[in-house]
Amino acid sequence: MTRAVVPGSFDPVTKGHLDIIERAARIFDEIIVVVLQNPAKHTTFTVEERMDFIRRSTKNIRNVSVDSFDGLLVDYMRRKEAGVVVKGLRAVSDFEYEYQMALTNHKLNPDVETLFLNTSQEYMFLSSSIVKQIASFDGDVSDFLPEQIRDDVQKRLRKGN
Ligand code: PNS
Repeated sequence: MTRAVVPGSFDPVTKGHLDIIERAARIFDEIIVVVLQNPAKHTTFTVEERMDFIRRSTKNIRNVSVDSFDGLLVDYMRRKEAGVVVKGLRAVSDFEYEYQMALTNHKLNPDVETLFLNTSQEYMFLSSSIVKQIASFDGDVSDFLPEQIRDDVQKRLRKGN
């Protein structure tokens, strides 16, 4: 059985993330979407909220589960006996950072491979921070956020929490 992990901050999960998760779920037997800390980012939503948003957005995908971990991705992979990290690559600007992470993770654990999926064209420009900005000003985020979580994300951001 091939188990792969889709890691990220998911603050919140967007349609761009969901596209990658759905496509990864067609390639691998089992996908774990794991919410991790990115020390470079201050997050808006709690880990529990982010996991709940992902669960609700992926509930129709049979082989996807959701988890969180406070530590190194490679340690999580070892614990779960997962060998592949799946990440979405948007524009060229993502490349250097993602490549650095892939090389570092492989150095820390040579059994871990990173597979990049190109982001679908319609989500090329999409990011959680852009979506949060639009939602906080009450803009239309229907093209960007999964339907199952759209209202709750917008409500939460409108409150200014
Ligand atoms: O969605 P993001 O913020 O681009 O995801 C980055 C994330 C959370 C996957 C990355 O920061 C990460 O793996 N954090 C866990 C700590 C870790 O393993 N750091 C070393 C990676 S080089």
